[in-house]
Amino acid sequence: MAFDPKGKVVLITGSSRGIGRETAVLFAERGANIVLNGRDPARLAETVGRMHRFGNRVWSYPADVTDPEQCRAMIAAVLAHYGQLDVLVNNAGISMRGPFLELDPSVIDSVTRVNILGAAYPTRFALPALHESRGSVVFVSSLAGVRGFAGVSIYSAAKMALTGLAESLHAELHADGVHTGVLFLAFTENDPDKTIMGPDGAPMRITRKASTTQRQAAEAVYRMVERRTRKTYLTASGRYLVFMQRHFPRLTDAVIMRSKGSIHRARRQESSQ
Ligand SMILES: NC(=O)c1ccc[n+]([C@@H]2O[C@H](COP(=O)([O-])OP(=O)(O)OC[C@H]3O[C@@H](n4cnc5c(N)ncnc54)[C@H](OP(=O)(O)O)[C@@H]3O)[C@@H](O)[C@H]2O)c1
Repeated sequence: MAFDPKGKVVLITGSSRGIGRETAVLFAERGANIVLNGRDPARLAETVGRMHRFGNRVWSYPADVTDPEQCRAMIAAVLAHYGQLDVLVNNAGISMRGPFLELDPSVIDSVTRVNILGAAYPTRFALPALHESRGSVVFVSSLAGVRGFAGVSIYSAAKMALTGLAESLHAELHADGVHTGVLFLAFTENDPDKTIMGPDGAPMRITRKASTTQRQAAEAVYRMVERRTRKTYLTASGRYLVFMQRHFPRLTDAVIMRSKGSIHRARRQESSQ
């Protein structure tokens, strides 16, 4: 049966800004009821305000997705508020740059926790409701989740873990009608104030030109839910990387070695946040 977003309940983690917020706007435009999430209540309130045209179809719940009890409480609150859950988009994530040798352990810890546990916990507690609604779980990954590049080691490891999680969930749940998908994004337009973690944990800005808009990323999430797609590689360069890696692995290695991480350059933020 075709996916009808009207009346569906969509929880998007990390949706107070960036790609998550744009995904929330897109689902709301198509008639869904939205649950926004992030840790900062003030930022969430601001995002709810920006989406006031959707009235009471937008609701927010502040929670840290790395905390299992907060995730359990968030899902319970969603069910108490809307009575159902149809789509979970595991979007909350944090990126880093720097040689692995220079990484402070706190960076390894944060990036692993947010990107892996921060997707596993909401999914774990949402599954009974998604089972009932025969709903969807989408994991927002990266091309670094397809291939390791210099300078993004632990982010790459964390995003690759999402593929394993999604594949296992598919094996466990598809017979019961729960859809599981992974979206592999290329560099995507950032909010102007977005920062990632430098090797010492200090905030850095990313300077690379984006190849995808937030709207295109949001459209891709929506299409995955609509068509119940298992894997989507956004952008031609993403699909090219997958093709090259499968058919010409040594050539792909050589090209990536030569880049020495130049495609993942970032610069330290002048004023700390
Ligand atoms: N932008 C890109 O180029 C790109 C490329 C490939 C993949 N991706 C992936 O796309 C997703 C979104 O990226 P983005 O660029 O839109 O990020 P962003 O602008 O930094 O937004 C991150 C969102 O996640 C929330 N968040 C962070 N840690 C959280 C936590 N522990 N618990 C709950 N919420 C948390 C943030 O709100 P609070 O800080 O208030 O919690 C914010 O709403 C991430 O998974 C990222 O890895 C992005």
